[in-house]
Amino acid sequence: MPGSNIPVHKQFDLLINSFLSDKVGIAPHFLTPALSAGLQQHVLQLQQDDMMTAAGIGNDEIKDGTQKMRTDKIYWLDKSHGNTFEKQFLQQAEDFIEHLNMACYAGINDYEFHYAVYEEGSFYKRHKDQFKTDSNRKYSLITYLNDNWLQTDGGQLDVYREETVQHILPHAQTAVFFRSDETEHEVTPANRSRMSISGWLKRV
Ligand code: OGA
Ligand code: MN
Repeated sequence: MPGSNIPVHKQFDLLINSFLSDKVGIAPHFLTPALSAGLQQHVLQLQQDDMMTAAGIGNDEIKDGTQKMRTDKIYWLDKSHGNTFEKQFLQQAEDFIEHLNMACYAGINDYEFHYAVYEEGSFYKRHKDQFKTDSNRKYSLITYLNDNWLQTDGGQLDVYREETVQHILPHAQTAVFFRSDETEHEVTPANRSRMSISGWLKRV
């Protein structure tokens, strides 16, 4: 597959440089095919074992509970779970943070990541990732695990720009990176099961 042999630090540079020039960084081969496949298998297993739970909303939730903001299911990653792929992903995230701190003096000293599954019909309405009463989340890093995603599969990441909306398909191996405090975005309803890892780089 083209690009799959690109060293990971080149993908880090690509993600950071496209973020700096365009506010939304994209690296199409952030994950190797092997890591993407391993993580995908892990999510499927977690789903089968009924380990994925309905996502709550942070303290920015609209108080009227009649209208759901999001309908995905999540599972928080932790090295202590002992899964090889999970550990490998978190190690790569730590390497990326080190790279980001060196390149941009970002001062990131904490992180959190969860798997997300959007079953058919699931969505996450327009929002920002930084909670009003908690400004620790500085950057959002989303990584996708879906092979052969088509436009007709829905489940796009829509990023609201000044005048336009940018549509990003959740292709396997791809990472997207943006500021958590200012970038408004949403996940449009998925027409097939959609898997990803959402994460935040924090200064605490
Ligand atoms: C989130 C989110 C976007 C995506 O988890 O906060 O906005 O494309 N995810 O999965
Ligand atoms: Mn978000």
